[in-house]
Amino acid sequence: MLPIRYIEPVFRPPSEAESLILPVTDGCSWNHCTFCDMYTAPQKKFRAREEAEVIDSLRLTGERYGERIRRVFLADGDALALPTRRLLAILAAIRTHLPAVRRISSYCLPRNLRKKSPDEMSELAAAGLSMAYVGAESGDDAVLDKVNKGETFESTCVALEKLGAAGISRSVMILNGLGGGVLSPQHAENSARLANATQPEYLATLVVSLPQGEARFRAAFPEWEPLDQRGLFAEMEHFLSALELQRTVFRSDHASNWLILKGTLGADKERLLAEVRSAIAAPATARLRPAWARGL
Ligand SMILES: C[S@@+](CC[C@H](N)C(=O)[O-])C[C@H]1O[C@@H](n2cnc3c(N)ncnc32)[C@H](O)[C@@H]1O
Ligand code: SF4
Repeated sequence: MLPIRYIEPVFRPPSEAESLILPVTDGCSWNHCTFCDMYTAPQKKFRAREEAEVIDSLRLTGERYGERIRRVFLADGDALALPTRRLLAILAAIRTHLPAVRRISSYCLPRNLRKKSPDEMSELAAAGLSMAYVGAESGDDAVLDKVNKGETFESTCVALEKLGAAGISRSVMILNGLGGGVLSPQHAENSARLANATQPEYLATLVVSLPQGEARFRAAFPEWEPLDQRGLFAEMEHFLSALELQRTVFRSDHASNWLILKGTLGADKERLLAEVRSAIAAPATARLRPAWARGL
């Protein structure tokens, strides 16, 4: 067992399956997005972990598994909420105790970076922070407002550019279906506009799913109607058509998606569009994820 204190549930991006998950905070510093129940349990109230605890966990993990750990994911919901000084101390301890680590990543909210200067961002990158997962969710201000993301097209753009300028790779998440039927066209259009403006290294789409009920979500967005499978595919077609990316790894393979799409954009744009269009034309013959295998 790892000498690290985990408070369940712990979330990480699918691509961090091989990483050491290192909680440096618990919960999410914002925690108001109406679609997200990930950190609403009482034990997940936001707090920064004591620096001494984190460093001790690293020291003990290093003693046991030192050379075997190559990737670290800083948990929980937005570890970059920590002040730069604290983050630098943790990154330095990772280098000391886990010398084989080659990639350090974290979730990141645009607001986490508001007070971090370009120099601080470069220091974080130089200390080993190499990737940030940013839940943009949408590039449309009306959708962002309806779901209480607390961010805008502009604030998300600024944060993505700050990360990019420091050489930290950006993995951006967009939620298919988040605007429901009413806002679907502008959600697709402006989310593509956000990606085009910032050219992230990675782009992923997930389907919004509300397994804990829709009450909280609907209270703030009463006109929301979930998109059916065809509506989700049509929105994806609109989004992909509007994307003008130079070199972005695109993934729509999270368990919440019916249709699995993978490729590099722009090279694979026409192929991906053809796959979406054939799923719209003939869903019965498309290779869709069965309902039982879908989830968050
Ligand atoms: C654990 S959250 C942390 C990310 C970070 N706090 C942020 O907002 O950028 C990771 C992502 O899960 C996705 N997510 C959260 N609730 C979801 C839901 N109900 N349906 C689908 N995806 C969801 C969102 O894209 C969110 O950004
Ligand atoms: S989506 Fe991210 S910012 Fe919003 S509540 Fe969930 S973890 Fe926090």
